[in-house]
Amino acid sequence: MIKKYFTILLILLISLHVSAQVWVVPAENEGKKSPFAFSDSTRKAGADIYVSNCKSCHGDPGKNNVIQLVPIPPDPASAKMQANSDGALQYKLIQGRGTMPSFKNTLAPTDLWRVISYIRGFNEKYVQEIAKNTTGNVGSLQNSQIVLTWISESHQIQATVSGLKDKTIQPVSGAEVKLFAQRYFGNLLIDEARNTDAHGAAAFNFPIDLPGDSAGFVKLIARLSNEEAFGEVKTESNMSIGVPTYRAPLNEQRAMWNVLEKTPIWLMLAYILTVLGAWAFIVYVILQIRAISKAGSKT
Ligand code: HEC
Repeated sequence: MIKKYFTILLILLISLHVSAQVWVVPAENEGKKSPFAFSDSTRKAGADIYVSNCKSCHGDPGKNNVIQLVPIPPDPASAKMQANSDGALQYKLIQGRGTMPSFKNTLAPTDLWRVISYIRGFNEKYVQEIAKNTTGNVGSLQNSQIVLTWISESHQIQATVSGLKDKTIQPVSGAEVKLFAQRYFGNLLIDEARNTDAHGAAAFNFPIDLPGDSAGFVKLIARLSNEEAFGEVKTESNMSIGVPTYRAPLNEQRAMWNVLEKTPIWLMLAYILTVLGAWAFIVYVILQIRAISKAGSKT
């Protein structure tokens, strides 16, 4: 009896604990703002993202047909969801918690803001504050491009971003650059995202043990994060800065599925003999049947 009450009490305490957990957002994330203004086009793009990534749990906004999880995923139109600052929404989408997945690697930064703009579409009182670019000239230059250079002394890759303004090429400052190394499947982020300085430069620490191809070549890809301001700015470069690594071709050693010349002779002979034996038996049976029918027609 006591055991039963104790169990009930324990369950109550645990569920209270779970439902009472506040989702704390760090101060520097709380105040983050979208770099672009929310509009019908961002809401429309956000709606598509929402339908394929969020609707299965959060339901149709305003309809309160959310899936019954613990804790319950709030309806995007609800006061609970709308009480978040834009930065808090972005933080929670990036982090995830419990059954709420992290969208850090599934959605691009711009897509996160698009889906947030869609969520805000269900709040009539919402007034957007756009991020002010206090440092840098992000977005004020055209035809931006990235050039990658290798600094061997410090084992770093420097990305220099420039753009066109009044027909002169100028450095782009305050732009977020991400550097990747191409792998068989997907890309590997090198170092962290960095912002360009007043000279348009950002330096990335390159790992000393990153495997390259047999000559040490690594394919690098650098891109600007803020696609909304720049469009897609991306550069690719092959540099011999990795550790030369020999990767055996997949068919070098004998395997069940690879080339004929590597078949062991005994296997080949056994196979041929079995097939020949089977055919010989079939032919023998046919000949016997003929013999029977001949003998039958004689009598
Ligand atoms: C697998 C189900 C699932 C999916 C998919 C999902 N969520 Fe959630 N979401 C949850 C759950 C459960 C919670 C409550 C988490 C908690 O409080 O610990 C939550 C919480 C949130 C919160 C925090 C709300 C608050 O209380 O402040 C936001 C914002 C959010 N989700 C947005 C989204 C968006 C946008 C998407 C799609 C890009 C999405 N979620 C996809 C299940 C999901």
